[in-house]
Amino acid sequence: MLIIDRNDKDLKTYFCSLMKSKKYKKSILQIETILLEENDNYAALANVSAILHMTFSFWWTGFYLVKNGNEENILVIAPFQGPDACSRIKFGEGVCGTAWKTKKSIIIKNVHEIENHISCSEFSNSEIVVPIISNGNVKGVLDIDSKLFSNFDETDKKYLEKVCNLISKKYWP
Ligand code: SME
Repeated sequence: MLIIDRNDKDLKTYFCSLMKSKKYKKSILQIETILLEENDNYAALANVSAILHMTFSFWWTGFYLVKNGNEENILVIAPFQGPDACSRIKFGEGVCGTAWKTKKSIIIKNVHEIENHISCSEFSNSEIVVPIISNGNVKGVLDIDSKLFSNFDETDKKYLEKVCNLISKKYWP
């Protein structure tokens, strides 16, 4: 007799998480190959954003990198997939600027509930931002938006942090 000690919702969450992990593991193998073969960070980030975007059908997938401006550092848009988005984000501004400031990944289940969210697209409903950290300094962020509410969880965080870690080790060792 098969006894499943979970309700339907738990089971659905469990299988979704398994599927997600499987897709991330495959994507990370592809990303590792790209990083191994490509020394230009922009070229690699373009393909990393394409892999994640196409694998998970996200709404917007891309990078903002910290650049030195005349007066202050700023996040400037870098390779991405999806509709056009704001090109510059200040320290502490929006979810990206907050991930830069706090040096922590941020999951937003409903972007419309967040005051400090920069809305680039009316179709974006949830978001995850993961900082790329090298020797304690943030070099940029990986920002992913979804049309679905609550599309990101600890599984996304775990694998996307791994992706950012690989990127950091290769381009900002
Ligand atoms: N959502 C971001 C802005 C960038 S776009 O979503 C691509 C934020 O609030 O930081």
